[in-house]
Amino acid sequence: MPAKIISGKAIAQEMREELRPEIETLKAKGVTPGLAVVLVGEDPASQVYVRMKGKACEAVGMHSETVVLPAAATQDELLAVIDRLNNDAAIHGILCQLPVPDHIEEAAVLRAIRVEKDVDGFHPENVGKVASGDPAGFRPATPYGVQQMLIRSGVDTRGANAVIVGRSNIVGRPMASLLLQRGEGGDATVTVCHSRTKDLGAVTREADILIVAIGKADLVTRDMVKPGAVVIDVGVNRVDDPSKEKGYRLVGDVAFDEVSEVAAAITPVPGGVGPMTITMLLYNTVQAARQWVL
Ligand SMILES: NC(=O)c1ccc[n+]([C@@H]2O[C@H](COP(=O)([O-])OP(=O)(O)OC[C@H]3O[C@@H](n4cnc5c(N)ncnc54)[C@H](OP(=O)(O)O)[C@@H]3O)[C@@H](O)[C@H]2O)c1
Repeated sequence: MPAKIISGKAIAQEMREELRPEIETLKAKGVTPGLAVVLVGEDPASQVYVRMKGKACEAVGMHSETVVLPAAATQDELLAVIDRLNNDAAIHGILCQLPVPDHIEEAAVLRAIRVEKDVDGFHPENVGKVASGDPAGFRPATPYGVQQMLIRSGVDTRGANAVIVGRSNIVGRPMASLLLQRGEGGDATVTVCHSRTKDLGAVTREADILIVAIGKADLVTRDMVKPGAVVIDVGVNRVDDPSKEKGYRLVGDVAFDEVSEVAAAITPVPGGVGPMTITMLLYNTVQAARQWVL
């Protein structure tokens, strides 16, 4: 039987609808949740992401501000913008679109964002809270979105063998922390793989839940997946496709067609994890705004 498709697009839409009344309630109490996105430079992909975040805010009735600095902006100039936003009462969430240019120290920028406004969850204090299972920490949007997809699709993570491929700070590592937490969407037995893992297929074949965040098109093939597994594909890769107007199409890290034949459920690319990421950013911003309601 072909795998059930877990539609991130549909779940994200459902979650954004759930946010609206909460935003209205906050507004009635004088707090309009506000997200500021800071971009340094003119990277086209980053520009697209930043625009999407601003539009998503406005679509649910939130306030959004975008600050674009030239690629040559100094670290001090960027830190001054963050300082201004840290002290702006209309802004509850701040994120700096990564990567920043090489002459700027990323860690210094992440540390400068006020912890209560760090809706990306990359400040070391929030990283530590999430790693130690403290629910007060902001959960990074992509793994938080994956966790919500699992919960809302009725996938029981309790006691499941969850295998994560990829150990980045934005996906793999926080994903492991969330699946290890006690309670709903957690309590899994977690294994994290990376480029040095020996016999990747032998490890992934043990997975009841397989989460792939590598950045290599179609790396996970049918023979690497246990029949009946739930497969979450975080990867987004461009592959040449002359039949498309843009000359390329987007694919995940999982060979979708063949893996769909063995998996119980799978996320598509596009329309899977991507839409969830922005939705969870909105969630975190609303959570941040709630702190300011007396
Ligand atoms: N949909 C979304 O919202 C969203 C959000 C974030 C990222 N993404 C996508 O997810 C993918 C991963 O992103 P990322 O930022 O986590 O990437 P990253 O920082 O480049 O990390 C990639 C990870 O994959 C591991 N890896 C690379 N080749 C491997 C191999 N052959 N076998 C096993 N592991 C391998 C690397 O191992 P080492 O650590 O040993 O190098 C690393 O841990 C990208 O396609 C990205 O575009 C999507």
